[in-house]
Amino acid sequence: MTRKVIIDCDPGIDDAVALTLALFDPQLEVLAVTASAGNVSAEQASRNVQAIIERLDPPRLPRVGTATAADDQPYEDGRRMNGEDGLGNAGFAVSRLHHQHLSEKVICDAVRAAPNEITILCLGPLTNVARAFQRDPDLPRMVHRLIIMGGSFTAVGNVTPVAEFNIYYDPLSAQCVFRSAATKTLVPLDVTRQVALTLDFVEALPPETTRAGLLLRRIVPFLFRSFHQTMGQESFYLHDTVALLAATQPELFESREMAGEVETAGHLTRGMTVFDRRPLSPSRPNMEVMTAVRADAAAETLLRGLERSGLQT
Ligand code: RIB
Ligand code: CA
Repeated sequence: MTRKVIIDCDPGIDDAVALTLALFDPQLEVLAVTASAGNVSAEQASRNVQAIIERLDPPRLPRVGTATAADDQPYEDGRRMNGEDGLGNAGFAVSRLHHQHLSEKVICDAVRAAPNEITILCLGPLTNVARAFQRDPDLPRMVHRLIIMGGSFTAVGNVTPVAEFNIYYDPLSAQCVFRSAATKTLVPLDVTRQVALTLDFVEALPPETTRAGLLLRRIVPFLFRSFHQTMGQESFYLHDTVALLAATQPELFESREMAGEVETAGHLTRGMTVFDRRPLSPSRPNMEVMTAVRADAAAETLLRGLERSGLQT
C-alpha cells in the first residue's frame, strides 16, 4: 500500500536529495511538491522545484505549488551553504510553469480530496502549512501527520546559537503549526546531525548516465565543499533526507511525546524551539519528537534509496 505524501520544501540541496529519493520510492505516492521560501527566495525556490522535477522526470508527476514570500522573513537565507541559486550554482534552466498554483492552495485542495490519508513532509519553513491552516481551519485535523524537519531539542542551533534555520526563518508560522491540532512529528538537528555523510557518500551517488545521478552529481559536491570550507568538516549533513526517513523507516528512530513551543519575540532567541521537560509539567504534549536515530542504518538506507533512484536512465 503506497503512502500519500505532499513534500513542502525550499530547495536547497538537501531538499533536492530528499525529493529524488521520494519521487523514485515505490512506497510513496508524491501527490504534490510545494515550494516555500527559505534557503532561497520564493521565486527561486519555485523555479528549483520545477527544475528538479523536470530533470528527474519521475514515474508519476506530482502537482507543483508556487511559493510566496514569508511575512516577516529575515535577512539570513541558505545561499551561503547551497549556492546563489540554491542548487550549487548549477544554473539549471526551467520551462515556464503553465498554471501556477499557490502552495497553500495546493495543500488545501490535496488534503480536502484525501482526508486523513496524507502525510505532509515539511522540509522548509512552515509558511505554507500555516497559511493552509489559516485558509481552511478544519485542515489540521484532516492531515494524517506532519513530519517536520526543524528545531533543536538540546542541540545548538545552525543559524543562531539557539535556533534551527527552518523555524528561525518564519517563527510565527512555526508557532501556528506547533499549536495546531495536527498530528506532528518533529525531526530536530539533534537527530539529523547524527547522520554525518562523507566523501564516500558523494562517490556512491548514481552515475551521470542516470537522471538522478546527473542532477545530484551537479549539486551535492557543492554542499560537501560548503561544510568543509565553512565548518572545517570532512562530513556534511542532509537534514531533509533524515526527515524523509522518519516517514519511510520510522523504526530507525527513538522518540518522545513532548510539549514544544516556538520563541517568536526574542531578539537573541528568535525561532528557538522550547520543550517543557519539567517533572509534573503542566504543559500537554503536542508532538512526537525524534530523539535518536540508528545513524549507520540510516546512511545505508539513503544509499540504497539513491541506488534505486539511479535505476531510471
Ligand atoms: O536547518 C536545516 C534546514 O534548513 C534544512 O531543511 C535545509 O534545507 C534548510 O532549509
Ligand atoms: Ca530544506
